[in-house]
Amino acid sequence: MAFGWIDEQAAARRRAGLVRSLRPRPADSPLLDLASNDYLGLARHPEVVAGAQEAARTWGGGATGSRLVTGTTELHTALEHELAAFCGFEAALVFSSGYAANLAAVTALAPHGSLIVSDAGNHASLIDGCRLARGTTQVVGHADPDAVRKALGTHDGPALAVSDTVFSVDGDAAPLAGLAEACREHGAGLVVDDAHGLGVLGAGGRGAPHAAGLAGADDVVVTVTLSKSLGSQGGVVLGPARVVEHLVNAARTFIFDTGLAPAAAGAALAALRLLGREPERAARAREVATGLHARLTAAGLEAVRPDAAVVSVRAPSPEEAVQWAADCRAAGLFVGCFRPPSVPDGISRLRLTARADLTEEQIERAVQVIGGTRP
Ligand SMILES: Cc1ncc(COP(=O)(O)O)c(C=O)c1O
Repeated sequence: MAFGWIDEQAAARRRAGLVRSLRPRPADSPLLDLASNDYLGLARHPEVVAGAQEAARTWGGGATGSRLVTGTTELHTALEHELAAFCGFEAALVFSSGYAANLAAVTALAPHGSLIVSDAGNHASLIDGCRLARGTTQVVGHADPDAVRKALGTHDGPALAVSDTVFSVDGDAAPLAGLAEACREHGAGLVVDDAHGLGVLGAGGRGAPHAAGLAGADDVVVTVTLSKSLGSQGGVVLGPARVVEHLVNAARTFIFDTGLAPAAAGAALAALRLLGREPERAARAREVATGLHARLTAAGLEAVRPDAAVVSVRAPSPEEAVQWAADCRAAGLFVGCFRPPSVPDGISRLRLTARADLTEEQIERAVQVIGGTRP
């Protein structure tokens, strides 16, 4: 029977407690949200919503074509200029998602005969970029510049190291300065995904590469998503102008994809301008994360010390993680639940996001609920 094997896979998933399902979210959900990636609480900010509305009124519902045909509006260009200036890079290129931006950066910068050295904890979109690239990939241990150095030392020809800046599962930060040093010793490029760093780390939320003194370097390329701190949707590659020009000409997820919807570009631009005016939002997100971690640990829970705004709490098994998240939801708290295959080490976790707009009372309530429902 066609697709018969799907039923076997579904049965195996059920047996392993790994079934995933969609739960539509009502607009007026009463749940306290510690599950979204809206780190700065900007997705529903009136200025961000107005940015989307104004852009849709001006440019329409869609970009109408690929970026190289009709899909580049003046709004896309303004967003690219302002993001590059904010993060400290020469140029920026907007994509329809962070996923597409990562596929573009890795595939276009790793030609035939090249080596890609990839951290074992990287996000799926970087992993898929490695799979699609013409170069050969070597996966190295997590957050280990010496392993990167060693791998680069085995190769003659173009090379690239790729890493998340803040790992989405545990919220720990990559050793960016060490990675850059290892790459420079071997003349290799460094591509880092700052999806969870932009808006949270660096001065006023300028991101982890900015904080590490790597902004504007001619051997560093940064990818970001507009869908987390900036409360919108879309992705961006930031780097030297010659890299961006190369992507315009060579990156398939740029060339063969419809441009980002104007409403998303308008919302992201409004959020970026707001963050520029209110830089304290970044520090507040970090402060909420530290406070949340301290209280969870004091309550006897095993939480990983956060380097940005993601706080991860260990769960004993995938089934118990799912039940724990469901019990939290029943008690009015929405938390994320990570389990295999989304976690490379097989450890299931609750994943909490420390939003800048959480109040002390909400943080306390969250800790009470998580502690009170623990398996
Ligand atoms: C580290 C990381 N990179 C890339 C992405 C993909 O970004 P987008 O959702 O914009 O496709 C995500 C998650 O969404 C992520 O967590």
